[in-house]
Formats: sequence, C-alpha cells, structure tokens
Amino acid sequence: MAEQSPKLNRIGLAGLAVMGQNLALNIAEKGFPISVYNRTTSKVDETVERAKLEGNLPLFGFHDPESFVQSIQKPRVIIMLVKAGSPVDQTIKTLSAYLEKGDCIIDGGNEWYENTERREKAMAELGLLYLGMGVSGGEEGARNGPSMMPGGSLEAYKYIEDIVLKVAAQVPDSGPCVTYIGKGGSGNFVKMIHNGIEYGDMQLIAEAYDVLKSVGKLSNEELKNVFSEWNKGELQSFLIEITADIFGIKDDKADGYLVDKVLDKTGMKGTGKWTVQQAAELSVAAPTIEASLDSRFLSGLKDERTEAAKVFGDILSDEVVVDKEQLIDDVRKALYASKICSYAQGMNLIRAKSEEKGWGLELGELARIWKGGCIIRAIFLDRIKQAYDRNSDLANLLVDPEFAKEIIERQSAWRRVVCLAINSGISTPGMSASLAYFDTYRRERLPANLVQAQRDYFGAHTYERVDIPGSYHTEWFKLAKKN
Ligand SMILES: *[C@@H]1O[C@H](CO)[C@@H](O)[C@H](O)[C@H]1NC(C)=O
Repeated sequence: MAEQSPKLNRIGLAGLAVMGQNLALNIAEKGFPISVYNRTTSKVDETVERAKLEGNLPLFGFHDPESFVQSIQKPRVIIMLVKAGSPVDQTIKTLSAYLEKGDCIIDGGNEWYENTERREKAMAELGLLYLGMGVSGGEEGARNGPSMMPGGSLEAYKYIEDIVLKVAAQVPDSGPCVTYIGKGGSGNFVKMIHNGIEYGDMQLIAEAYDVLKSVGKLSNEELKNVFSEWNKGELQSFLIEITADIFGIKDDKADGYLVDKVLDKTGMKGTGKWTVQQAAELSVAAPTIEASLDSRFLSGLKDERTEAAKVFGDILSDEVVVDKEQLIDDVRKALYASKICSYAQGMNLIRAKSEEKGWGLELGELARIWKGGCIIRAIFLDRIKQAYDRNSDLANLLVDPEFAKEIIERQSAWRRVVCLAINSGISTPGMSASLAYFDTYRRERLPANLVQAQRDYFGAHTYERVDIPGSYHTEWFKLAKKN
C-alpha cells in the first residue's frame, strides 16, 4: 500500500507520464497537497520519489483508484493527464465510480473539443462537473509554470482558480498565464489553435533558416549568432531562443553539428491537422498554418524527394549573389511580417468558432495568457493584446494601425526574400502563403469576378453586379455563339 497522507488533500492528479508528473510536482510546490495515481504503480512510486528529492513536496501516491479518490477533500477535483481519446474515457470511468455529486474532473490533455463537450454532458447527468484544460509549455513548463486554458463548467473553474493562478507561468505586468476561457470545449479549442499557430511559427523559422543557410551560406555558428541577435528584438520568443541554442550544439557521435545530422522528416500528433480541418469547416482562410502542415506531409516523403532531386537537381543558389548583411536583415523582416499574418489567421479562427458556438471568447486575453509558459510565448503577443485592447472588434490584425505600419515598413524586404527564394529554387511555403494572404486581403478588387462569371456560365449559379443591386444570370453560352 502506498503512503497515506495524514489528512485529505486539496487536489488529485491521475496519469503520471512526463506532463502529469511535472504538473503534480508544480502544484505540490505551490503549497497544495496533492494525491497522485497511475495504473502503472511504478509511475506513482517514481513521482513520490521525485517529490522527496525536489524538496519534500506535499505529494502523496496511491496504487488504487478508490483510496486515491478517498484521499481528496470534497468537492473533489482531479486533473487527468492521459492520452486523448479512449484512455480519457477509460480514466473517467475508473474514477467516477468513486466520485460523488459536485466533484469535478479536469482533462489537461490535447483533446478534441467535441469529446470534451460530450463528456461534460455525460458527467453533468451524474451530478459531476467537467473542464477541458489545454496545458502548454512542455515538460519544463508543466514543472515551472505552464500556460493553461481551462474551459467548461465555470463552477469547476472556481474550485481550482486559486491553484491554477499560482501554478501558471507568471509574467511581470500581465499576471498569471491562465484565465477561464469559456464554456464547453473552448479551452481545448483554443489550445488546438495555439498548436496550429505553433506549427506556423516553427515552419516560418525553418524557412528563415533555409534561406540563410542555402542561399546566404551562413554557417551554424553564424546562424546561432543571428538568431541570438534576433532574440533581443521584435522576434524575441521561446522558439527563436531554442533555435539559437540548437545551432550551437555539437554532434556527440561524430564531427560537426547535431542539427545537420537530424533526419529531415517532421513528426506530428494531430492538433495541426485539426486546426486546418476547422479552418475549412469554418470557411476561414488559414494559408500559413495550412502550408506548415503541408510541409510536414512533404517532409515525410524523404525517399520520393531523394529520387526527385536526382531528376530535377537540388537548389539553384549558385547563380544568385547576395549581400549577407542585407539578407539577414531582410529575412528578419520577412519572418516578422509573415508571423503577423499567421497570428491573424489563428485569431480569426478562434473568433469564428466563438461566434458559431456563442463562447464569447476574448482574443486579447488569449494573447495575454500566451505571453508566458507556452511554446509560442513571445514579446510579440503583447502587441497582439494591445491591438485587441485598442479595438476588440478588430476585423483582422493586419489592419490594426500599429501592425499595418510594421507591415508597410517590412513589405519590400519580405518581397525580396520570397523572390530570392523562388529564384533559388528554395520553397518558402509559409512566407509565401503569408505574403499571398496579405496581398489578397489588401486588394479591393480580386479576379473573383471571373470565377463568378465561369460559375454562372456553366452552372447558372448567378452573380451580383458592382453597379446595380440584385442577383443576375446571363446566357453566356448563347451570347458567345452570337459573336
Ligand atoms: C499510467 O501510466 C501508463 C504508462 O506510463 C499510461 O499509459 C497510463 O495512461 C497512465 N494513466 C493512468 C490513469 O493510469
């Protein structure tokens, strides 16, 4: 039998893989006695051992679900950190057998938001409360301060508010990186979009790297310096920081740098794909995020790419002469401008869903709780928060006066980088998609008139006119025959 706590604990946590262990230790460290449970009992003992080593933290392990549940003070709150999908249902089933009316379960995993809504309803029928809480920050964040996105029962949020406010990352001047997101599956949805934005950020950084390395011929050492320098300015962010670190790591198995030995095939777990599916579902353009997902798919075709490279040759950059300093400066600006477009897409996805579901989400608040703890944390998020503070109904981040000014200042550099990449045979799908998004959004008249004419020609789908109100159909075929 595992160690018993002398009195009842404030909260419980089930699922002691990496995220679960670290979050439990974080909660204990903030002074909230916590019970922990995992079906695999060695995980329980491992966590208890860590709690001792990391400062005798008030963490108590249980080897069976019943005594675990009984060890928590009422109304009970249990955070689950298990794999999304059926493991979550399984854990709920196990725990709810011992729970009582008014108790609450919180899913801290990357769950599909509709699953959370289904479970919240089923739990409500048993008199239990439910929250779907996105947690971002990886292992380190979970241990020392993640960004948390709880959605679902407000009553349940109130039970845990004192805990999450202390456990979340703390950002000077803007507070803990947590807030009640909204009803239903909104917490999971917002976390999903966060991950989609993260895909975009990573892709854009990878493209900046590719252009600097393949066209600019920068060494890893130079890349490290460039990214470190960038991390002192407008691009300052966790992802830029770790990128600079990566360029400095020497291979531990052979000569050279480790980054050059890493296989160029990107893995994924699903939240990026869900984001793109939702974009299509909501009819919201998210080309930068889509391009980053497509790039992961294409990266997976390593063998096919190896064959294609034999047919078409690799890059064409030998024909291009560049000024290194100018290139570095241009790429920084292109990266920043592309990032604005990517975030504009993510925020508009959240707004569209919020309107559809009546969630009433506050975009500025989301930018605030992403400022620390999470993977996309960046100084840039402060500017997004300010943009929504200036105008909460802002149609698109691009037209916020500050962002508009920044884009105008960067657009020639941005175009130079994309043109250079195209002429060098280097694909920059994220930067190009962002630029096309901007160039489409800013134009009063698009060639959509021609598409409408075609649709009306072959399908009698009708069209509107620019000059006279109403819906029109033309016998295009007959008129064409007459000519
Ligand atoms: C316990 O640990 C195993 C292995 O790490 C994991 O697969 C399982 O989902 C965990 N959670 C629970 C609640 O038992």
